[in-house]
Amino acid sequence: MTISIKTLDDIEGMRVAGRLGAEVLDYITPFVKPGVTTGELDRLCHEYMVNVQGTIPAPLNYAPPGYTPFPKAVCTSVNDVICHGIPGDKVLKNGDVLNIDVTVITEDGYHGDNSRMFFVGEPSKLARRLSEITYECMWIGIDKVKPGARLGDIGYAIQKHAEAAGYSVVREFCGHGIGKVFHEEPQVLHYGRPGTGEELQAGMIFTIEPMINAGRREIREMPDGWTIKTKDRSLSAQWEHMILVTETGYEVLTTSAGSPPPPAMVRPQDAVAA
Ligand code: MF3
Ligand code: CO
Ligand code: CO
Repeated sequence: MTISIKTLDDIEGMRVAGRLGAEVLDYITPFVKPGVTTGELDRLCHEYMVNVQGTIPAPLNYAPPGYTPFPKAVCTSVNDVICHGIPGDKVLKNGDVLNIDVTVITEDGYHGDNSRMFFVGEPSKLARRLSEITYECMWIGIDKVKPGARLGDIGYAIQKHAEAAGYSVVREFCGHGIGKVFHEEPQVLHYGRPGTGEELQAGMIFTIEPMINAGRREIREMPDGWTIKTKDRSLSAQWEHMILVTETGYEVLTTSAGSPPPPAMVRPQDAVAA
């Protein structure tokens, strides 16, 4: 397996792509309200990418081996949909929770891939906690990233946190290397054993994007060829950032004015006043 080491030009291009990807999520946030359709959210994101940013939506017509081309610009995964939900005429109602997953391609050909959870009106206690724990899982994984660490350290940390909360980790989908190619090596599993897997080196760029189910981890594939749901119909949540391995640790590439701050558990302890 070969994991590409990005050049300084690549890294600069990926910083721009990451910020633009995050800014699409900032832009769409106020539109996520009861009564809107997932298709309308897709149309708004698509127009913003093409007309305001001058980026291209990577999912549109994306067709990995064995898949039909993805028909929309973003993924909208509502409630028990784990990932790859296709936007359409579904009307969002109070209490729904969804993931919106955005990947832009910049004019230089770099991909900016990220996703967040959104609440439609007031979420249930379970939905709020599942989203929070999943957000912590992503950041606990990010916090393991530094040269010399191994991919299994990331997966183990995420799995431990999810399972301690009583939730389960989806196995069939993982984070991935990314650059001018949408999905490249390595596969970043969200479960595993510490000290196993590839060793991280400065200049690698990959996503961390845990999918966490409130119930069991098993999945169901829908006949549309894309939509993945929980087999037991339990809620599922996902957050995604794109991460650069730096000489000393990591840099999160998918940040913007509206990206939520890291959770307290990965922030350095506030200095105690003397
Ligand atoms: N953005 C997704 C990821 O995080 C991939 C979506 S592929 C699509 O890897 F075709 F469904 F859009
Ligand atoms: Co991704
Ligand atoms: Co994504």
